[in-house]
Amino acid sequence: MTSAEHGNGAYADAFAESVTDPEAFWLRAAEAVDWDTAPTRALDDSAAPMYRWYPDATLNTCHNALDRHVAAGRGDQAALIYDSAMLGTTCTYTYAELLTEVSRFAGVLTAQGISAGDRVVIYMPMIPEAAIAMLACARIGAVHSMVFGGFAAAELAARIDDAQPKALVTASGGLEPGRTIEYLPIVERALGLTDNAPGTIVVKNRERIPGSAADHDGWLDWDTAAADAEPAGCVAVAATDPLYILYTSGTTGKPKGVVRDNGGHAVALTWSMRNLYDIGAGQVMWTASDVGWVVGHSYIVYGPLLVGATTVLYEGKPVGTPDAGAFWRVVEQHGVRALFTAPTAIRAIRKEDPEAAELAKYDISTLTTLFAAGERLDPDTYEWATAKLGVPVVDHWWQTETGWAICANLRGLEPMPIKAGSPTVAVPGYRVQIVDAGGSEVGPGTEGNIVIRLPLPPGTLAGLWRDEDRYVKSYLSTFPGYYLTGDSGYIDADGYVFVLGRSDDVINVAGHRLSTGAMEAVVAQHAAVAECAVVGIKDDLKGQRPSGYVVLKAGATIDHEVLRTELVAMVRDQIGAVATFRDVTVVQALPKTRSGKILRKTMRQIADHEDYSVPSTIEDPAVLDALAKLLGPEVS
Ligand code: COA
Ligand code: AMP
Repeated sequence: MTSAEHGNGAYADAFAESVTDPEAFWLRAAEAVDWDTAPTRALDDSAAPMYRWYPDATLNTCHNALDRHVAAGRGDQAALIYDSAMLGTTCTYTYAELLTEVSRFAGVLTAQGISAGDRVVIYMPMIPEAAIAMLACARIGAVHSMVFGGFAAAELAARIDDAQPKALVTASGGLEPGRTIEYLPIVERALGLTDNAPGTIVVKNRERIPGSAADHDGWLDWDTAAADAEPAGCVAVAATDPLYILYTSGTTGKPKGVVRDNGGHAVALTWSMRNLYDIGAGQVMWTASDVGWVVGHSYIVYGPLLVGATTVLYEGKPVGTPDAGAFWRVVEQHGVRALFTAPTAIRAIRKEDPEAAELAKYDISTLTTLFAAGERLDPDTYEWATAKLGVPVVDHWWQTETGWAICANLRGLEPMPIKAGSPTVAVPGYRVQIVDAGGSEVGPGTEGNIVIRLPLPPGTLAGLWRDEDRYVKSYLSTFPGYYLTGDSGYIDADGYVFVLGRSDDVINVAGHRLSTGAMEAVVAQHAAVAECAVVGIKDDLKGQRPSGYVVLKAGATIDHEVLRTELVAMVRDQIGAVATFRDVTVVQALPKTRSGKILRKTMRQIADHEDYSVPSTIEDPAVLDALAKLLGPEVS
C-alpha cells in the first residue's frame, strides 16, 4: 500500500492526480509562476532515468522572487527581515529595496564577466548579503553554490574544486556565541588547497570582524563594488538550467553536488508555500536554519520570496543569544505565522527552560504552526512543544536531494491528525514505498528501505554536478525504477510514514548532515592510527554525535588522552567545529565481516545500548564481545 490511500479529501484527490495525471497536476501548479516562455509540457522522460521538468519553458527565478512582486505593487512590503541576536539589531528590506540591492550585486558579478552558467561559490554567514548574492546569481543565470560557514578550509576547497567557480563571494566573518569566526584566513587556506581558484573574490566587510578585501591584491570590497555597479536585469534561462549546486555529505569523504533546476524548483516551492506551510503574500515565515543548508535555501530565501511573503533571516541561536526566549521574542517582534526549525533547537530550548517561563514573557499569538525537519522529531520533544506552544507541531521529512518535503502534514491543503514520531503522509508527487533488501515491497508496519518511485516530482535533484555515474550509482541503481532515500522506516496501516534513521554512513548532528566516512578519512591520517571507524551514536541534545573507535598501530605508545586531543583538533581543522567530534575510544580490533566490512551498525547498537544480534558473517566474534564489554551493554 502507498500513502495515497490515506484520507478522502483534498489530500487524497491531489495525491491521486499527481500520480495518475502528473502532466495536468504540475502544469496547473506551474501557472503560479511567471514564465518568459510558458511550459506546454511538464515532464520530459525521454532520457529516463534522467528526468527533466518543463523542458520547453524559460523563466528567471529572481524575477519570480522579487521583480514580479514589485511590479504587482508589493514594493513597500517587507521582503526580508534580518534579525541578528548576535548584534542585537534588526533591519528590514522591502521588496523594492531588496530588488535594488540584488540588481546592483548582479551588476557587480556581470562587470566581472560572470554570466549564465558560470558558478559562484558563496561562503557567508547569516547576513542579508548571503541571500542577496544568491538572488543576484539567479538574476543573471549564474549557478550559486553556498558553503556553510561552519565548514573548514578543506571542505570549502573540495567544493571549489568540484564546482570550478568563476567567483567566490564571502564576508570578513561570522559571529558565534563568545567568539568571532574570521573567514578570510579560511578562504586563503582553501585557495591554497585548490587548483581551481576563482578569478574574482568579493568580500563583504563586517564592522566588528577584522579582515577586508583591501588586504588582498585584486579582491573586491562588496560595498565599493556595489556602489559603483550598473544594476543588472533578469536573464531568462531554460527551466532545466541549474539554479544552484548544494554540496551534501554522502557516505564517502567527497561531498555530493546536488543540482537544482530553475523551473521545477520555482513550481514546487511555490506549490509548497500554500499547500504545506499555509503561507502566502504578506504573511511572515521564519525558518531558523542557515542558508548553508537546503532548509535555508528553500525556506529562508526562495520559498517565501516566490510567493511574496516576508522572510526572517536570523543570526543567532535558540539559546544563549541571550536566552531561551530568543525564538519567542522573534515570533512576537516580527509577527511570525509559521516557524520552521530543527528538533535539536527545540530540545536546546527545553533543556534551558523546561517550564517555558521565557515563552510566557512573549505574545506569540500570530504563530499558527511550528514546523520541524532536519532530523526525526522525537515524540518527547513533540509532546513538550505541543503542550507549551498550543499550536500544531508538524514534522516533515526531506533531504538536500529533494529540496522540499517528501512527507508532510499539508497544513494548507488538508490538515491531518498528527501521529507523534511520523512526518505524516507522502506529499503529492512522491510515490513513497518501503522495500526489503531484495527490492520487494513490504506490508504495513514492516521496516525496510524507504524508496520513491521514479520520476521524482519537480524541484527535486536534477542530478549530481557533472557526475551522472555517481548519481545513478548512489541513488538509482540499488532498486531500478526507484530513488533510494538512504533512510529506513515503515508505513503504517493508515499510510503514515515513520522515518527511523539512515541506513548508510550519513549522520545527523544537531540537524547538520555529516559523513562519518569523511571523519574516518581524517582520523586515519594520524600517525598512530592503524584503522578506525566513526559511528553516529545517540545524543540527548543533538540527536546524534560522532563517536570514533581507533586501533593503534603495533608499537604505538601514545597516551590515549593526547591521541583524543589530537584527533579532535584534526577533525575540527579539516571538517569544521560543526562536526562536534569529541569521543575517541581505543579498541584492540574493529568488528568486521569475513569480507572485511566494518560492522558499523552493530557498533552503533552496542554504543547505544540497543539489542543487537551477532551477524553470521562476522570474522571474529571475540572482537564484538570485547567491544561490548568495553562499552557495557548485553548481547541478546
Ligand atoms: N560558523 C562557524 N562555526 C559554527 C557555525 C557557523 N555557522 N555553526 C556552528 N559552529 C560551531 C559552533 O560554534 C560550535 O563550536 P564549538 O565547538 O567551538 O562550541 C560547533 O560548531 C558546534 O555547533 P552547534 O552544532 O551549533 O552546537 P552548539 O552546542 O553551539 O549549539 C544547538 C547547539 C542545538 C543550539 C545548535 O546546534 C542549533 O541551533 N541547532 C539548530 C540546527 C539547525 O538549524 N540546523 C539546520 C538544519 S534544519
Ligand atoms: P539533509 O540533506 O541535511 O536535509 O538531511 C537529510 C536527512 O536528514 C534525511 O535523509 C534524514 O535522515 C534526516 N531527516 C531530515 N528530516 C527528517 C525528519 N523529519 N524525520 C526523520 N529524519 C529526517
